[in-house]
Amino acid sequence: MTNEWRQIEGINIEEANFPVRMEFGGEKIVIFREGNDYWAVQRYCPHQHTDFSRGAIVSNGTMIRCGLHAYTFKLSDGTGVNCPGYKINVYEVQQEGAQLLGRSINTGN
Ligand code: FES
Repeated sequence: MTNEWRQIEGINIEEANFPVRMEFGGEKIVIFREGNDYWAVQRYCPHQHTDFSRGAIVSNGTMIRCGLHAYTFKLSDGTGVNCPGYKINVYEVQQEGAQLLGRSINTGN
């Protein structure tokens, strides 16, 4: 697998209610949106498997915080900030017309 930009299929960005749970590259992910900015991460927190759609993008769009115990991860590389040893898969997402394109930042997928 490469980390080239690929279309994220099955989402209508005009009607979607973010955060949106999707599949991308065979992985379950969650996509967040604030204005024209998008972020995506693996769907489940590595701590106790809580769905990240119940979490929040924090620190000016640089981190995601799990909604259950507040474990927080960098969106630049997926590393845990307040939870050493934990790491998540993170994705870049951009809008192109009515589509979203995504690519892995740290998994090579
Ligand atoms: S389940 Fe995410 S921090 Fe505990």
